[in-house]
Amino acid sequence: MTDGTDSLDGIARAVALHLRRQRLAYDTRYLRVRSAPTPATPPQVRPAPTTAQSRSARPKPAPSKSVDAKAALRSQAESWSAATKLEYLRKKNVGDCRRCGLCQTRQNIVFGVGNPEARIMFVGEAPGADEDRKGEPFVGKAGQLLDRWLVELGMSRADVYIANVLKCRPPGNRDPRPDEVERCSPFLRAQIRAIRPAAVVALGRHAGMLLSRRDDMSLRAMRGARLDYDASSPKEAPRSLLIPLVVTYHPAYVLRQSGEAEVGATQMVMADLRRALDLAAEA
Ligand code: URA
Repeated sequence: MTDGTDSLDGIARAVALHLRRQRLAYDTRYLRVRSAPTPATPPQVRPAPTTAQSRSARPKPAPSKSVDAKAALRSQAESWSAATKLEYLRKKNVGDCRRCGLCQTRQNIVFGVGNPEARIMFVGEAPGADEDRKGEPFVGKAGQLLDRWLVELGMSRADVYIANVLKCRPPGNRDPRPDEVERCSPFLRAQIRAIRPAAVVALGRHAGMLLSRRDDMSLRAMRGARLDYDASSPKEAPRSLLIPLVVTYHPAYVLRQSGEAEVGATQMVMADLRRALDLAAEA
């Protein structure tokens, strides 16, 4: 028989052993922490929010480095020349663009050409076969006619800037698709914002509708209307940067006319281009 003292002794020994082990574990952890080298930069400790602080009033996480770098680049870019802005846009933003399916069929990206300080900027719809081959806008027959119009006005390509809504050729010269326009038109807006021309001339109905954001307007109606291109960035209030827009016939359309129709179309184009020069002179 036992009075239970043996088992009480056993329990007491087990408890003492357990406490010693716990103490040892604590000491080991404590000593390891104490002996660790002090970090060069102390970790940032955020103050604990008081109970009065709501979730929304808590300090926001610090912006990531890439957000800071982008903001720094944006403010730096404000002082760049138009030529530098265009070159940065061409190399870094457009690059080897793969934002839509046209990248699979194009030969070259047709960025734009001309004077980065131009007062007048011409905008066509999209590159054709010649432009796709050379990587330059309006270099085919339509482009040669545009050159003649410029000469008639006492100017040359070196005085203006020429670009398209789309930077890549749609296969078979089909009309641009809405998703292609949506993905590509920010580049045109960035070009226009870099150049800040005093007037933009849209060549043809499609470019006119895309730039004036009018759906289904005839070229005749656009020619007679006072239009603007809204060059404001998505971060700005809409219509905070408006540039006078003149819409005229596409040179390819004029080339398709003959006889009196051709003469009439050319006269209308010249009148439109002179109006664009007048608007630029007023600006
Ligand atoms: N037509 C356009 O709209 N753009 C060009 O670059 C060439 C032909």
